[in-house]
Amino acid sequence: MTIEFDKMQFQNDLISWFAAEKRDLPWRRTADPYQIWVSEIMLQQTRVDTVIPYYKRFVEKFPTVNDLAEADEEILLKQWEGLGYYSRVRNLQAGVKEVAEKYNGVVPASRKEISLLKGVGPYTAGAILSIAYGIPEHAVDGNVMRVLSRILLIEEDIAKPKTRKVFEDAVTEIISHEDPSSFNQGLME
Ligand code: ADE
Repeated sequence: MTIEFDKMQFQNDLISWFAAEKRDLPWRRTADPYQIWVSEIMLQQTRVDTVIPYYKRFVEKFPTVNDLAEADEEILLKQWEGLGYYSRVRNLQAGVKEVAEKYNGVVPASRKEISLLKGVGPYTAGAILSIAYGIPEHAVDGNVMRVLSRILLIEEDIAKPKTRKVFEDAVTEIISHEDPSSFNQGLME
C-alpha cells in the first residue's frame, strides 16, 4: 500500500464499530458452520429482512447437516418458496450431502476443501471460515468491494471479474487475525 494506511487502527475501528452497531440477526447467535452456510446462501441474492423468517424456519426444520442431507426435495423446495433462485437450495443440499458423506457431517475448515463443495464459491467459503471457524480468510462480495474501494482508494473497475482478486489480496493483507469474524462481518454490514 503506497499511501498511508494504518492497518491496526482500521482493524480496531472496524471491529469496535461492529461490536457497537451490529444488528441482532439470528445467524449471529450461532457458531455452527452449517447454519452460517445456510444464512450466507440465503443472503446471496436476498435482503436481510426477507431472509430472517426463512432462515429461522429452515434451521428449525433442518437443524443439522444430516437433516438437510436426508431432506425430501419437495419439502425442501417448499421451505424455499418465495426466496427464488431455487438452484441455490439444490446446490446447498448437494454440498451438504457431500459433507455428510465425505466429512462425516463436519464442514471442512480449509479453503481448499470447503471450496470443492457444490455451491460454495470464494465469498461463501471465506464467510464460513471466518465467521464459524475464526480463520482469517477473505470474504469479498460486491458490497465489500464498494466499501473497500473507498477506504483503500482502489480504482480498479469492480464490474470486471478479475478485479475481485485485487480486493481478496487486500483483505488477506489487512484482515484481523484476532477477530476475523467481526472484521469480515463489519465490512459486510
Ligand atoms: N450479507 C451477507 N452476509 C451477511 C451477514 N453475515 N450478515 C449480514 N449481512 C450479510
